[in-house]
Amino acid sequence: MRVLVCGGAGYIGAHMCKALAEAGHEVVVLDNLSTGHRQAVLWGELVEADLLRPETLEQAFAGRGVDAVMHFCARSLVGESVQDPYAYYENNVTGSLNLLRAMRRHGVERLVFSSTAAVFGNPQAERIDESHPTQPINPYGRSKLMIEQVLADAAAAYGLRSVSLRYFNAAGADPDGRIGEAHTPETHLIPNLLRAALGQGPAMKVFGADYPTRDGTCIRDYIHVLDLADAHLRALGHMAAHGGAHVFNLGNGQGFSVREVIRAAEEVAGRAIAHEVAPRRPGDPAVLVADSVRARQELEWTPRYTRVADIIETAWRWHQAPAY
Ligand code: UFG
Repeated sequence: MRVLVCGGAGYIGAHMCKALAEAGHEVVVLDNLSTGHRQAVLWGELVEADLLRPETLEQAFAGRGVDAVMHFCARSLVGESVQDPYAYYENNVTGSLNLLRAMRRHGVERLVFSSTAAVFGNPQAERIDESHPTQPINPYGRSKLMIEQVLADAAAAYGLRSVSLRYFNAAGADPDGRIGEAHTPETHLIPNLLRAALGQGPAMKVFGADYPTRDGTCIRDYIHVLDLADAHLRALGHMAAHGGAHVFNLGNGQGFSVREVIRAAEEVAGRAIAHEVAPRRPGDPAVLVADSVRARQELEWTPRYTRVADIIETAWRWHQAPAY
């Protein structure tokens, strides 16, 4: 298939491009390079375009025979979304609508959409399955949930086939070292820890130690970026057989607290990582752990990286010698 990867110069998008190419698909990358990296586009042509400038989308679609779209273009930081909600609704909602309209103009009827565990808000369940109520507590989660709802409407109205994949905490890097996680500024836990271990980042802060969890710090479900990419490939196959709009949770099903991740990162790096407790970060839920049974059954997806230390190990290789 020829797959247009929107946001293919970004962290998860670049890993997706590699997985698609390895599976024998043709890749076209659409990216505005606002947070993505030109050096990360190694598997397919780059079309510089912007979802907020619909006229630029034409270059990506016209005459290319795109069979399916994967949509990774988004702002994705919970804290930033609380500070600047307009930017989130504009990029994630308006931008997605512009993409959907371009797909419709060009007769492209298959979409894999990057959704998020943030659609669940502050869930009470120990493990969250797809039937858990969606009550996002920050603009980021709300912006993603809105598009999931648009996709259900688009399935009914236009016959659009879609799979929304709700990622829990994406982490790790391709072990071959050519692509990895490189955000500026970096806000995510694992890269911040590894940069602190290398003496590069600012002093490491633990955002809140007074949550109702086993050690007072937030619990998250870390899932390797290669396992996420594999689920997307399976979603393409799923759409070949099924119409409609589908959602799947993607996580390991095991939660690690911030303190547990710090200990694992210290083990991998072979050194202590200095850190101090700071106030809670606005918009952070206490616990987010996936029940991914539906993806395991319907997509026949099995995450290969189940130990958080193994995930951190691949990120550590990248951070010691990042290519960009
Ligand atoms: N944390 C720290 N110190 C840091 C960075 C993070 O204590 O320097 C804590 C956070 O407060 C949180 C946990 O580590 O409790 C994980 O934080 P991340 O920033 O790594 O990830 P988030 O859970 O905030 O968000 C990520 C993605 C979102 C996605 C979410 C789904 O950025 O897009 O996972 O679980 F919605």
